[in-house]
Amino acid sequence: MLPRNNLSLRGLRGPEGGWIILITAMGPLRPMAHKFDPDRKALLESPDRREWQDPETILDFFGFTAGTVVADVGCGTGYFSIPLSRRVGPAGRVYAIDMQEEMLWSLQEKLLDQGVSNILPILSSEEFIALPESHADAALLVNTLHELKGRSTLMEIHRILRTGGFLAVVDWAKVPMDVGPPLEHRLSEEQAKELLRSVGFGVDSVDVGDLFYGIRARRP
Ligand SMILES: C[S@@+](CC[C@H](N)C(=O)[O-])C[C@H]1O[C@@H](n2cnc3c(N)ncnc32)[C@H](O)[C@@H]1O
Repeated sequence: MLPRNNLSLRGLRGPEGGWIILITAMGPLRPMAHKFDPDRKALLESPDRREWQDPETILDFFGFTAGTVVADVGCGTGYFSIPLSRRVGPAGRVYAIDMQEEMLWSLQEKLLDQGVSNILPILSSEEFIALPESHADAALLVNTLHELKGRSTLMEIHRILRTGGFLAVVDWAKVPMDVGPPLEHRLSEEQAKELLRSVGFGVDSVDVGDLFYGIRARRP
């Protein structure tokens, strides 16, 4: 875990007078693995995305329920975080976690515009997510597994999940197609499962269509 003096706290005034907090983890500087370029963040919200990756359908497949605490890791601009926040409702909470600050500021603007009060954006590093152990009922990792560097972020997700909690993974199938990241950056479903098992998760496939694979990774 990072020492306390590597964490910074910033507050932003939220809707109805509340505060939204940014907890910043300043990890050691190291070369970035292939991260989604924030200059291209509009692509994450492209109007046709719903046709090939509908968040509501995917959240249905994994069965996210009201009142739960969910960590959306690699949340980007919140394409999944906002629908997820409606699902978990006022009794639940979404931690929207990303290591690129620009993504979180885009999300933050939406939260203020839409008056969403049950999402807390948290800036993370590859090795650290600023949440306590066993804090979340579930986690979500969409189109992000292939961007992770090694196992450290998965180990952090495992740490913040409660016993019996699950991580829903959705990522690009490793087959040639016109959209998505280059083939050489992708993991096959079997490689993804092996990686998740190596961190201590129990894994099952979830059918999320042809372009992607889905895995429910349970913390035993
Ligand atoms: C392709 S985008 C997907 C964003 C979002 N999940 C979606 O489906 O729209 C991947 C995001 O994961 C973030 N990311 C990559 N590696 C990460 C890590 N180790 N920890 C946290 N965020 C990470 C990137 O900054 C980027 O915003």
